[in-house]
Amino acid sequence: MPLMTVKEILTPVSSGWAVGAFNVHNLEDVQAVVNAADELEAPVIIMVSESALNYAGADFIRSIVATAAKRVQIPIALQLDHGKSLETVKRSIQAGFTSVMIDGSYLSFEDNVALTRQIVEYAHQHGCSVEGELGKIGGKEDDLLVEDADARFTDPRKVERFILETGIDVLAPAVGTAHGLYKGEARIDFPRLQAIRQATKVPLALHGGSDLSDEIIKEIMRSGVEKINVGTDLKIAITSGIKDYLSNNPEEIEPRKVFGAGRERGTRLVMEKMRLFECVGKASLY
Ligand code: G3H
Ligand code: ZN
Repeated sequence: MPLMTVKEILTPVSSGWAVGAFNVHNLEDVQAVVNAADELEAPVIIMVSESALNYAGADFIRSIVATAAKRVQIPIALQLDHGKSLETVKRSIQAGFTSVMIDGSYLSFEDNVALTRQIVEYAHQHGCSVEGELGKIGGKEDDLLVEDADARFTDPRKVERFILETGIDVLAPAVGTAHGLYKGEARIDFPRLQAIRQATKVPLALHGGSDLSDEIIKEIMRSGVEKINVGTDLKIAITSGIKDYLSNNPEEIEPRKVFGAGRERGTRLVMEKMRLFECVGKASLY
């Protein structure tokens, strides 16, 4: 199937299930995600961060994802994750990404609105959907580090104005999840999440979806979140597959075997997440 936008992927989602959005860096990561989604007939969002974009090349990664999508009959979207500037957004859209996230969380409310609105104008002209961030999500995502002290929860009273003034298609709120592994118990502010949900009908994206208990994920889904981002758990699965293979076969030099072991472990992880997100079989809704 041709690539869809994230907005299109999230449109049929109703309370109780969510679409998984997975961060990828290379061919094997893309295959791990698409193989899992194909096996389970699930819609899926593939995300590429700015640093992964610089590592793989926007055109390379887009070609890999588009080729993978052509081979299967499931809905797939390709989104730039945590884009910081119009330049990166343009680069990914020109390469054929269907969606972008603009992360203006390092700016004041007014400047975040101004940058996000500029991105929305450009992206919508090119048929792409846009996710914007309000508040500031903490933790470490690739090269992006937000110290705990700098993280800022989303004010539900600002949600309507942010969405109205920017025209975004998806909102990423900060409600206590963080990028990377949690230092202690994850503390999600569910009343805040519910107040944000009440404030808008625009789909919500939950960042920092790794390292959370199944109970927390279920509560997040019950709170009406449509998109759940997973980066770190997939990185851990893939690299641990590679490490295990090499420790059992220290003389192996065949990349297909080494990276294939990582890909296999990644596929299993994505399938587990999809079962948890209850999006199995939902490809038929599109
Ligand atoms: O934007 C990507 C995500 O929010 C991933 O977060 O690495 O904690 O799963 P994570
Ligand atoms: Zn994120």
